[in-house]
Amino acid sequence: MHADPTRAPSARIIAVVNQKGGVGKTTTAINLGAALAEDGFNVLIVDLDPQGNASTGLGIAPESRQLSSYDLLLDEAELADVIYPSQLEGLWITPATADLSSADIEMVANEKRSFLLYDALRQPAIDRYAFDYVLIDCPPSLSLLTVNAMVAAHSVLVPLQSEFFALEGLSQLMLTIREVRQVANPDLRIEGVVLTMYDGRNRLAQQVESDSRETLGDLVFKTVIPRNVRVSEAPSYAQSVLTYDSGSKGSLAYRALAEELVRRHHES
Ligand SMILES: Nc1ncnc2c1ncn2[C@@H]1O[C@H](COP(=O)(O)OP(=O)(O)OP(=O)(O)O)[C@@H](O)[C@H]1O
Ligand SMILES: [Mg+2]
Repeated sequence: MHADPTRAPSARIIAVVNQKGGVGKTTTAINLGAALAEDGFNVLIVDLDPQGNASTGLGIAPESRQLSSYDLLLDEAELADVIYPSQLEGLWITPATADLSSADIEMVANEKRSFLLYDALRQPAIDRYAFDYVLIDCPPSLSLLTVNAMVAAHSVLVPLQSEFFALEGLSQLMLTIREVRQVANPDLRIEGVVLTMYDGRNRLAQQVESDSRETLGDLVFKTVIPRNVRVSEAPSYAQSVLTYDSGSKGSLAYRALAEELVRRHHES
């Protein structure tokens, strides 16, 4: 692998992070990715979670994951060997395998342990794909894997489940972002916070929304992702919700999120 750390990749790299489990990170990576691809952008999803949910959800069967994000991080694999097409044009994925669960321990001994993904995504070969967006699906922890994602990324996107305790872990997450800025990636931005699994009839969800808008202001996306059964069904058909049920509320919401994200980039 020949990384050139001075190169700025043309893609915007976004780490999808929340150390809380089950808040909609993977669902957001897949469906935001699909919505951006539908808009004509070229998108890579890097599955950095040993659970491999994004890989399965996009139809990459475990037995066909010859080389994975583990090899990208720890075996200096070539990009061409770890980038798989999905069934949706313009949407690509670097799958994860269970190997990744030992990556944290294996990386510790490496002097460049926090920069492994940074280097991997800056291989000159990435230019060939002309990615517009790279979305990194992180595991539910603030482990070295997640730190690698934050060091490699331009920004962090935080899905927040519209439930009690939703805001509890945020201060720890913000602290980690600050540390990463101090030691490795001073330009790391917060892309935004997106409320997921929102049920407008639920007073608690309304409370979480108003609390987060009050505390976090414009960082919170105007678009809210509703709780929608089609969203939860789609992965078992190895599809994004956009292809599984194009007119569903979930699809409309993820399209709106993609539009808002792109608009924000043009404004900033
Ligand atoms: N908008 C939604 N409507 C209905 N179900 C949803 C929605 N978003 C996510 N889910 C469901 O909630 C569960 C958790 O979502 P997801 O796997 O995306 O979370 P995660 O943060 O990636 O979890 P983990 O921390 O384990 O990686 C899944 O079963 C998913 O299908
Ligand atoms: Mg996940």
